[in-house]
Amino acid sequence: MANTATIEIDGNKYEFPVVKGSENEVAIDISKLRANTNGVITVDPGFKNTGSCESGITFLDGEKGILRYRGYAIEDLADKVDFLEVAYLLIFGELPTKEQNDKFHDDIKAESAVDEDIKKILDAFPKAAHPMGVISSLTSALTAFNPSSVDVDSEADMYKSVVRILGKMPVLVAWTMRKKQGQPLDYGDNSLGYVENILKMMFSRPNSCYVQNPVLVDALDKLLILHADHEQNCSTSTVRIVGSSHAGLFASLSAGISALWGPLHGGANQAVLEMLQAIQEDGGDTKKYMAKAKDKSDPFRLMGFGHRVYKNFDPRAKIIKKAADQVLHDLGINDPILEIAKGLEKEALEDPYFVDRKLYPNVDFYSGIIYRAMGIPTEMFTVMFAIGRLPGWIAQWREMRLRKEPIGRPRQVYIGATERKFVPVEER
Ligand code: SDX
Repeated sequence: MANTATIEIDGNKYEFPVVKGSENEVAIDISKLRANTNGVITVDPGFKNTGSCESGITFLDGEKGILRYRGYAIEDLADKVDFLEVAYLLIFGELPTKEQNDKFHDDIKAESAVDEDIKKILDAFPKAAHPMGVISSLTSALTAFNPSSVDVDSEADMYKSVVRILGKMPVLVAWTMRKKQGQPLDYGDNSLGYVENILKMMFSRPNSCYVQNPVLVDALDKLLILHADHEQNCSTSTVRIVGSSHAGLFASLSAGISALWGPLHGGANQAVLEMLQAIQEDGGDTKKYMAKAKDKSDPFRLMGFGHRVYKNFDPRAKIIKKAADQVLHDLGINDPILEIAKGLEKEALEDPYFVDRKLYPNVDFYSGIIYRAMGIPTEMFTVMFAIGRLPGWIAQWREMRLRKEPIGRPRQVYIGATERKFVPVEER
């Protein structure tokens, strides 16, 4: 493979370095393109062909359906370690020793208290507010209560901000859900594990003792691991670009949460369940919805299907589909929605429209079925995605800052009006 690429423009040839990653991905380094060609740039809406950075955190191969965090296969991590170990791995680059993991968890517990004044902000939201909007606002508001977490130049400040947000986010999530449900807020119990504590804060009731269900603990732990990072997706790119202006970690995460909210991204898990429920209410007529998904005049898309990068099965979807069967069996739940999902998947995988476009189930297709079985309200599904993605966003933000990446500022190709004379209002 040549280590340069030649571009010819108007008869002039320009050479640019070719870079190759540790998994043999090849890219043309165009960082000098504009300077060397007297102003020529590239244009790539949606960045489908453009790498925004070099990163050592997550590798995925969309053609082969491979996903690895710091070199470890997602299948191994989902089965063999817990979410906090995965968070440590993503953020600091190595799986923790037992001592490192215990200290990490202790430091997170020490930071899990949330300023009581946050409740005044939470109370200001109407009950009908979508939880993603509430969580994005509360995450940004955390900056006001933790000003030292704004500019984290030192490793010590960075670590403090990391354990702070990992400690406080589950509280904000649980409080947001309980506020919508009219339930009193639960402050958690630091004697519990990280995931057990999330479940207790979400589901405890003041008039009874909360009993942990190991099926729910394992299911949530696995789901959080599977959502933990996914290289330069929309919300992660948002966190990076906001952080590149040296905005604080919490402000950057708040922006990422807003990006994740969209139904084409993390909001798809809520949209999938609403779609499956609509199909169920419509008598289970999956063929009608398949036809709608293929009809270009119909804005309807088969939510939970397709992916910008995966042109094969999303490895996470395979694990979640298996877990959905297991969780519903262990909970003794027979949810017809799961059968509708499986029927839809089978039809789509045999339909030329989907096969030709390499549209497979993605991470969002089955996850909502497990959240629903756990008793999590549909509007909270994307918030659960955000808790899972938190370590990935943090890891990517930290990498961007440690590598001293420049402020993100893309160029454009202008297609508007060329220069024209001003016309006073009397003559318009
Ligand atoms: C996530 O990037 C990540 O890594 C994201 C994520 C992560 O972990 O961070 O994996 C999480 O966001 C998963 C994706 C969740 N979104 C959905 O499930 C929403 C439904 N899917 C689509 O909207 C779509 O597949 C996207 C947004 C996911 C990807 O869109 P692309 O890459 O921009 O592809 P496209 O829209 O150009 O589609 C290519 C073709 C088009 O048809 P043609 O113009 O070629 O005829 O496929 C069609 C599309 O119309 N198509 C679909 C479809 N997805 C794509 N047709 C029907 N139903 C669908 N779901």
